[in-house]
Amino acid sequence: MIKQVLAIETSCDDTSVAVVSDRGWVKSVVSANQDLVHSPFGGIVPEIASRNHSIHLLPLVDKALEKAKLTWNDIDAIVVTSRPGLLGSLLVGVITAKSLALAKNLPFIGVNHLEAHLLAPFLRDETYEPPVDFSYPYVALAVSGGHTQLYLVEGLGKYRVLGRTLDDAAGEAFDKFAKTIGLGFPGGPLVDKYSSGGNIKAYSFPRPLINEDNFDFSFSGLKSSAVRTVDSLDKKPDEKNHEKERADLCASYQEAVVDVLISKLSKAIEQQGVRNATITGGVSANSRLRKRAEELARKLGIEIVIPPLRYCTDNAAMVGYAGLLRLQNGESSGADLRPEARSRPDDFLSGDSR
Ligand code: KG4
Ligand code: ZN
Repeated sequence: MIKQVLAIETSCDDTSVAVVSDRGWVKSVVSANQDLVHSPFGGIVPEIASRNHSIHLLPLVDKALEKAKLTWNDIDAIVVTSRPGLLGSLLVGVITAKSLALAKNLPFIGVNHLEAHLLAPFLRDETYEPPVDFSYPYVALAVSGGHTQLYLVEGLGKYRVLGRTLDDAAGEAFDKFAKTIGLGFPGGPLVDKYSSGGNIKAYSFPRPLINEDNFDFSFSGLKSSAVRTVDSLDKKPDEKNHEKERADLCASYQEAVVDVLISKLSKAIEQQGVRNATITGGVSANSRLRKRAEELARKLGIEIVIPPLRYCTDNAAMVGYAGLLRLQNGESSGADLRPEARSRPDDFLSGDSR
């Protein structure tokens, strides 16, 4: 029986390794964040990302075992994110996982990164555990720099896509807006920070697709509208002494993004008739989104779990848990495991379950 795995995540710009055991217990998770190296370029540079994974990965493997106070003898299998993501980045993780599995004579499995995000609420450690009644089926909103999707999670391997972004991801919408007003990268946390004290009604930004009868998102029009608004301002928000304009712009823009996310999440919860929901991905750090999610949960009388940020942003713990469940289900990968830039068609179910 496989009870403890070492997991590797390198699908984008975060290198992360974790040791995860039965029932999602996280024994250790260690990560190397690359924000600082990509920041001068205003976005992620794939070649730099994969090079940094190569540098950081093996030392992090040692560190994860050390932190968990374990040796290779305690590890039953290896899990690695094999899709979707940047090919060069995924390749570093997949090759390393395969080589370690061969050297240590262990089974291994490649998992879908999005599946891992969806299962993150089940992780547990000394300071976090999911609410006792959190269970399938639940609606999941996955919002990060690369993804914005709404799912109905019906069970292991049963992830029904209810809707997705037609263009930019929510995190991208924050990052591009931040760039427009002269903030750094990644911009989401800065927009969140500068929104504090701003007037959410100061500027009226569009809420794309909010009234459409579907669960799709679109953020590129919102971003263009913000660019036009900023261009038309006399007082540019990146200039000194114009903190009020910056706060109002950030708060109004953030409200537009959050309004759309909460509205679609709310409709999905009601339509699917579930008692549980979760928000995951880097954007779930957003303070306004968290507040509005709390209000929504109270209003609907349901549970919306937002796991701690360490399990919401890209991390190997969630990957380990997804892989552990699959391995315990009798699945594993073979030597032909390859990184894939996109999800496989059968990774997700499409449409409405009703
Ligand atoms: O999940 P993540 O760490 O990496 C991936 O994109 O996979 O998400 C990063 C994204 C970035 O776009 C970042 O700007 C956004 O999450 N983000 C935020 C906040 N913190 C991170 N967006 C809005 N408000 C925040 N507080
Ligand atoms: Zn992610």
